[in-house]
Amino acid sequence: MSDFSIGEKLRLTLFGQSHGPAVGCVLDGLPAGEEVDMDKIRAFMARRKPGQNAWSTPRKETDEPEILSGLNPAGQTCGAPLTIMIRNTGAHSGDYTGLSDKPRPGHADYTAAVKYGPAWDPRGGGQFSARLTAPLCFAGAVCAQMLERRGAVVAAHIARIGGVEDAVPDFVRPSLPLYAPGAFPVIDAEKGKAMQAEIAAAAQAGDSVDGAVRCVAAGLPAGLGGPYFGGLEGRLAQALFAIPAVKGVSFGEVLSRGSRNNDPYCLDDAGRFGVSTVTNHCGGILGGITTGMPVYFTVAFKPTPSIAVPQRTVDLRSRRETPLTVGGRHDPCVVPRAVPVVEAAAALVLTGLMLENEGEKKGWI
Ligand SMILES: Cc1cc2nc3c(=O)[nH]c(=O)nc-3n(C[C@H](O)[C@H](O)[C@H](O)COP(=O)(O)O)c2cc1C
Repeated sequence: MSDFSIGEKLRLTLFGQSHGPAVGCVLDGLPAGEEVDMDKIRAFMARRKPGQNAWSTPRKETDEPEILSGLNPAGQTCGAPLTIMIRNTGAHSGDYTGLSDKPRPGHADYTAAVKYGPAWDPRGGGQFSARLTAPLCFAGAVCAQMLERRGAVVAAHIARIGGVEDAVPDFVRPSLPLYAPGAFPVIDAEKGKAMQAEIAAAAQAGDSVDGAVRCVAAGLPAGLGGPYFGGLEGRLAQALFAIPAVKGVSFGEVLSRGSRNNDPYCLDDAGRFGVSTVTNHCGGILGGITTGMPVYFTVAFKPTPSIAVPQRTVDLRSRRETPLTVGGRHDPCVVPRAVPVVEAAAALVLTGLMLENEGEKKGWI
């Protein structure tokens, strides 16, 4: 298995390094004839873009996707792999001098040195950089459009920053999207202000702060996924854990007693057989397979590793312990920019499953 590819019928491969000429992706397995609305893609990618507000890094990157293959002149998928590149324009490589010798605590510098040796290019975090989430967002934005045409919507919000939690959506009949376009991505704007204050306080101290993103996917048919290794939770988790700084993924919610935790069945039009559930603690997944109720999960992010506070590290060349102060322009909290990245990873996996399911259904006709 390649470190940079995921999916079977619909397969995404990411490429590039943070300070190379470009990052990009190849999305293979798309059916021909899918409309790709580039304005919607740009709007989706802009939600991840840095340098736009006080709570993200001041790095400026244009994030403009250049299409290399996969679309016809009318802007539809043509059956060839959809390949894009996004040029790296905002790199300050000098900020990373010496990092291959003095690994930043919490970042991938040490494990990269172990795996790749001195040939590794540490500038901007190399191939570990969250810069590769830009092409992931491109692929996710294409998939989100395909899901929408099939009646499904994926929407995320900031569930928590530090000690401040957002309001919780209705997991039976969620109202999506979860926040107004262009706003700080929370349901409750007052909580959003408190979260921004947490980020500002961490940044002021030269530090960073953790948080979580919650994602809801509604309108999915019942029957997607499978037991054991084919389970939807596992397939989503593989894509979500690929996002840099993700440390936890949990599905639905677990209540203490079976009598409270089980979701009673009822008859209405929501499910595939007119069967739905009164509550949705299982997060829309039972036995690894969608129930037809909204799928939801929470993704925990650690605080940004690159902080200005002096830290302790080891000089790998001299084999001496040494103090380290990390410079450069870093996000004091990765969570706000990670909201569309979580949506993108989820949309990619769910679209792959939908396409596999469409193939299965054709066999019945
Ligand atoms: C949207 C986003 C932005 C990020 N920005 C930074 C950053 O500015 N500085 C930094 O050190 N890490 C940043 N990270 C996290 C690192 O890329 C990540 O911690 C590192 O690659 C090591 O991977 P791991 O934390 O999954 O082990 C960001 C992550 C995401 C998702």
